[in-house]
Amino acid sequence: MSHSEFAAPAAASLMADYPLKAHNTFGFDVRAQFACLIEREAQLLAALRDPRVAGLPRLVLGGGSNVVLTGDFAGLVLLVALRGRRVVREDQHAWYVEAAGGETWHEFVAWTLEEGMPGLENLALIPGTVGAAPIQNIGAYGLEMCERFASLRAIEIATGEAVELDAEACGFGYRDSFFKREGRERFVITSVTFRLPKVWQPRAGYADLARELAARGDTANAGQTDGAAVQPTAQAIFDAVVAVRRAKLPDPLELGNAGSFFKNPVIDSAQFEALKRREPDIVSYAQADGRVKLAAGWLIDRCGWKGRAMGAAAVHERQALVLVNRGGASGTQLLALARAIQRDVFERFGVELEAEPVCL
Ligand code: EPU
Repeated sequence: MSHSEFAAPAAASLMADYPLKAHNTFGFDVRAQFACLIEREAQLLAALRDPRVAGLPRLVLGGGSNVVLTGDFAGLVLLVALRGRRVVREDQHAWYVEAAGGETWHEFVAWTLEEGMPGLENLALIPGTVGAAPIQNIGAYGLEMCERFASLRAIEIATGEAVELDAEACGFGYRDSFFKREGRERFVITSVTFRLPKVWQPRAGYADLARELAARGDTANAGQTDGAAVQPTAQAIFDAVVAVRRAKLPDPLELGNAGSFFKNPVIDSAQFEALKRREPDIVSYAQADGRVKLAAGWLIDRCGWKGRAMGAAAVHERQALVLVNRGGASGTQLLALARAIQRDVFERFGVELEAEPVCL
C-alpha cells in the first residue's frame, strides 16, 4: 500500500478542461474544469490543498459505474487510481484482506479466489472499483458486500484527515450506506479491508444462480449416488455468476450503462396485499421486518418499457432495470427517460422507484 511514505508534493498535477467520457460507464461526453489522477495518497492531499481549486466542488470518481453526469463539472474531479492488495492479518477463523480504493472490483474478487480465499465469488463481474463498493453496499446473487466487510480507510475531503470506519459506522443497508446519506461527498475511500471466513459456505440459492449451476452440473445433488450433498465450489459459483451476468447485463464497454438504474422498492404488507389482488403474478420477496421487496425490473417490464427508447437513451432489451446509452445520449436525456418510467410505474402500481446511481 502506498500510504503516506512520501511527503505531499508542493503542487498537485491538475489537468484543466478534462474529458470524462472514459471515466463514466454511461459514456456521457462531459468535461471537468479540473481533474487529478490519484495514484498515491500524497497526490490526493496535495490536490485537496491546492489553491487553484480552493472552494471548488469536488467529485470522486472510481470506475464511474454508479453516476449520471448531466453536464460539465465546474470543480475538481478526483480520479482514484490507488492500487495494491494484500492479506493484512489472519486468525484461526478468517483472512483479512485489504485492497486499495482504485483496484478493479472484479479483478480483486478473482485474485482472492486464486489465492485460495473464497467468499466474494457471488459478487463477480460487478463493474467499478473497490473504493466504490461500500458506498452503495454492492450486492448480487444472494450476497451483499457488507457481509464480508471488516473496515475501511478514508480521507475526509474538508480536512485531509484519515479516518478508519467499521461496519457499524458505515451504516450499511440495501444499496445504501453512511456515504449515501450523512457522509455524502465528504470522503475519499482509500482502502477497504474484507473478512473472508476460513470455513466457507456456498451461497447458491438465488434462483438464476441455482439454475445456472444446475445446467452446468455444479449443483447440490448433481450426480451423487451416496446421498451426500455435492456442493458447488467457489470457482463454480464465480463462473456461474459471470455467465448469468453476461447473459443478462450489458457490458458497459459495449453499451453504456450503470447496472440496475432503480432500487427494488420495499413496501408495507397492506399495500402489497392490495397490489397482489390486482396483479397476482407480481414478483416479491418477503423481508425479515414484515415488509415486501418488489422486483423493479418486473414492474417496469409490466409497464411495457423493456427495450423502449427515448432518443438514444433506452431500456435494455434483456433486463428492464438497466437503462442504456445507445450512443450519443446525454445524462439529461437519460434522466428524462428515468422520470417517464417512474411516472408510469407510479400510475399503475402506486409504487415510487428510487434511482440507484448518484445523479449530478
Ligand atoms: N424481471 C422481469 N423483467 C425484467 C427484469 C426482471 O420480469 O426485465 C423479473 C425477473 O424475472 C425476476 C425478478 O424480476 O423474477 C428479479 O430479476 P433479477 O433476478 O434479474 O434481479 P433484479 O431484481 O432485477 C437484482 C439487483 C442486481 C443483481 C441481481 C442479482 C437491484 C436493484 N438489482 O436485480 O444488481 O445483480 O438482483 O442479485 O437490487 C445492480 O445493483 O446494479 C445490479 C445489477
